[in-house]
Amino acid sequence: MAAIVELRGRRVWDSRGRPTVEAEIALDDGAIGRAIAPAGASTGAGEAHDKRDGGKSLRGLDVRHAVHAVDGEIRIALLGKDAAAQREIDDTLIALDGTPDKSRLGGNALVAVSLACLHAAAASARQPLWRHLAGDRRVALPVPEIQIYGGGAHARGRVDIQDYLVVCPGAGSFAEALEWTAEVYYAAGGRLAKKGALGGVADEGGYWPAFKSNEEGVAELVASIEDAGFKPGEDVAIALDVAATQFYRGGRYHLALENRSLSAEQLALMLARWIDAYPIVSVEDPFAENDTAAMQSFTRLVGDKVQVVGDDFLVTSAARVRAAAAQGACNAVLIKPNQVGTVSETHDAVLAARAAGYGTIVSARSGESEDTSIVHLAVGWGVPELKVGSFSRSERMAKWNEGLRIEQSLGAGALPYPARRLFKRYRR
Ligand code: PGA
Ligand code: ZN
Repeated sequence: MAAIVELRGRRVWDSRGRPTVEAEIALDDGAIGRAIAPAGASTGAGEAHDKRDGGKSLRGLDVRHAVHAVDGEIRIALLGKDAAAQREIDDTLIALDGTPDKSRLGGNALVAVSLACLHAAAASARQPLWRHLAGDRRVALPVPEIQIYGGGAHARGRVDIQDYLVVCPGAGSFAEALEWTAEVYYAAGGRLAKKGALGGVADEGGYWPAFKSNEEGVAELVASIEDAGFKPGEDVAIALDVAATQFYRGGRYHLALENRSLSAEQLALMLARWIDAYPIVSVEDPFAENDTAAMQSFTRLVGDKVQVVGDDFLVTSAARVRAAAAQGACNAVLIKPNQVGTVSETHDAVLAARAAGYGTIVSARSGESEDTSIVHLAVGWGVPELKVGSFSRSERMAKWNEGLRIEQSLGAGALPYPARRLFKRYRR
């Protein structure tokens, strides 16, 4: 056993220049673990609640109280505990907080501490984090889902759809998928610049596009894939994160860019038409987080053709995944550790998804940092997809580059890269 001998909180800064919580844990054998909490912008109502100070300075976003909780109550509760007993650590954090949404101590404080503890345990075992999680199991790199255009809450609502992403079903390795994505990213930027529709980059590093309609983004992405020399659908396919909660009001879906509002049924038909017309393999949060009926009928309508992913709808909750599976809503879940607050609960959601036959995608947030924990979670837990934002800005590239390091270190010992079979179970 390696006991926790010190725990410190630290206020650091995320990719939007906002304060966030870093936790650092030291063990009695000299091992150290460190992690930084990310932060969402299009958050689900059911997420663990970040503790922010409010008030005037830093637009109320400061995290001094959350850092103080790490240095005070949380430190006292964890000193002397075995860092390798992750479940016990996490149960202690959950009980200490005592609220269903982790709002007393803060989801940001808890997730930083929980992940730091995991890092310390891996360091103590002298193993990379992914190996510490995988044990003797063989692993594969996950298939990247990479944003090309950013919209929604990440680009001040410039387009309504939040993420236009690519996946590379035809790539033979993680490294090759990144290389192909880079070509598509350059091609997409070139097309936008030519049209005079390039407004810089959005929060996750994807282009901030001046499209005239939401569908134009899909068509432009197909053209970019072709410009880059790839076969749309075969080499490189499309994933969308609609993040529909963001434009749902009064029971209708408001597409501000197109100056019209749709019923759930009309939105479903629009998306189903896109799925038929374009090489789309995955659609995330097509309806609002509380519109279960729409999610069910959409999954019935297109669930055999595409991955229907719950993000705000499932908020990395094992219980919600089980309930959704019983209702036939979605067939895949986005996994974000800070949505639920601890490593153990995140793992529970992965296991619940697997038991339900759901696809799983580990995901970053729109507010990120140099922390690469999620890449290790995806590899170590055998999660076959990874969504990190776009192919620019170092808080994103740090994750892709960490994946490259892991892939290189696996060499011939890796399981086959899962891209070719991953989306085959759809589109039959
Ligand atoms: P968020 O969005 O991190 O801003 O909440 C990411 C997503 O919706 O997948
Ligand atoms: Zn999402």
